[in-house]
Amino acid sequence: MPAPAVLRVVVLISGGGSNLAALLEAADDPQYPARVVAVGADRLADGFTHAEERSIPTFSVPFAADTDRDEWGAALLEQIEFWRPGLVVLSGFMRLLPPAVVHALAPNLINTHPAYLPEFPGAHAVRDALAAGVSQTGATVMVVDDGVDTGPVIVQERVPVRPGDDHGALHERIKAVERRLLIDTVRNIALGAVRLSAISARSPARPQP
Ligand code: GRF
Repeated sequence: MPAPAVLRVVVLISGGGSNLAALLEAADDPQYPARVVAVGADRLADGFTHAEERSIPTFSVPFAADTDRDEWGAALLEQIEFWRPGLVVLSGFMRLLPPAVVHALAPNLINTHPAYLPEFPGAHAVRDALAAGVSQTGATVMVVDDGVDTGPVIVQERVPVRPGDDHGALHERIKAVERRLLIDTVRNIALGAVRLSAISARSPARPQP
């Protein structure tokens, strides 16, 4: 019997890539049904080291002040498509993808976010949750659409805010949950237990009234 196909994953990062590192560790298990085939970034990201340790190829398509966004997106898309991924994961990728890139990869494009969407979208979710004084925030994995953290939710989980939490402590606690949700989600997509085409047909998450 032929071995089942393994899901080919490209991960995009911008920073330290601790969530990427967790996914790579999970994929070190030969039983895990997905493989990270390349890691890309919008800069020379520190997190590339996690890929390099495993001889996984990396690519960067830098974005500077005078960069044309659409040209940048096209160059990034070319690099991504070279690896023929079945799934692209934004894991701490801190730049909005142009709509043409989103449409080319949809629905096989997911993102992790350090809040319980639709609460606290955007680049400062942990800071915003602390500033709002909420008693709980969360972590979300969602399908990417054209908006800022507006895509349909695949899975999410609450994370308590503890008295005395600062940004670092709270973000670390959220990231521990993000990692688990990401690893489970990629596994479920690979096994066909999560179907992104069905999820992406759903309405985007909306704020509670
Ligand atoms: C994660 O919380 C991600 O959701 C957010 O940035 C963080 C990335 O952390 N957008 P790392 O680079 O994986 O350590």
